[in-house]
Amino acid sequence: MKKSIELYKDNLREGLNKYTRKAYLMLPELDKPRILDIGCGSGVPTMELARLSNGQIVGLEIDQALLNKLMRKIEKAGLSDRIKTVRCSMFELDFPDESFDIIWSEGSIFKIGFEKGLKKWKRFLKPNGFLVVHDEITNTKKKLKYIPNCGYKLLGHFLISEDIWWAEYFRPLEKRINDVRKKYINESRALLELDNEQQEIDMFKKNPKSNRSIFYIMQKK
Ligand SMILES: C[S@@+](CC[C@H](N)C(=O)[O-])C[C@H]1O[C@@H](n2cnc3c(N)ncnc32)[C@H](O)[C@@H]1O
Repeated sequence: MKKSIELYKDNLREGLNKYTRKAYLMLPELDKPRILDIGCGSGVPTMELARLSNGQIVGLEIDQALLNKLMRKIEKAGLSDRIKTVRCSMFELDFPDESFDIIWSEGSIFKIGFEKGLKKWKRFLKPNGFLVVHDEITNTKKKLKYIPNCGYKLLGHFLISEDIWWAEYFRPLEKRINDVRKKYINESRALLELDNEQQEIDMFKKNPKSNRSIFYIMQKK
């Protein structure tokens, strides 16, 4: 049951790849870029980046179980020569300076903090390399100031509204949870797990606006 909800979440996340594509297409055309995807999770955007570019991708993640999922996807897609996985914390990146044309981070920079992430990750970008961050909506004004202060040029940014998050992620997820609940009506452990899943949706409903998110497309100056 848990697996089927997780798989469904991955499918819904794939639906959001159109925003990953939109952000990628805001970059100039790059030949075989080297891309570091920080906090790649089970690799939904990582796989999309491989499809979008003809480059080499490193998916970096702290959770080995998620990396295992990504490794299965890579193998199934026959992309082992183009996507590598690294188990590592974003706090302890260990790559030579100027290793990457693009650093990508969706839903993960909040862990290190926006300003610190921008500062610490910069040295791993080649001169004029790109940093793309999909972030929570908080402190947008401050973050827009950090971008030039940390040595980047903002090429563009766009919002994913609460309506999009509801229509494309939380509403279908809630429907699936309710459908699954009917099947497991007599299984208390499964029902508890479904309650846990529902919590994320209830939090969204309490304050939909705080669930808006934003893509920043930046270039190292
Ligand atoms: C919200 S998920 C986003 C996953 C993926 N980027 C996506 O958009 O589908 C955030 C990811 O950051 C990872 N993460 C959290 N702390 C981390 C750290 N210190 N170093 C590397 N990854 C971390 C989590 O394990 C999780 O997979």
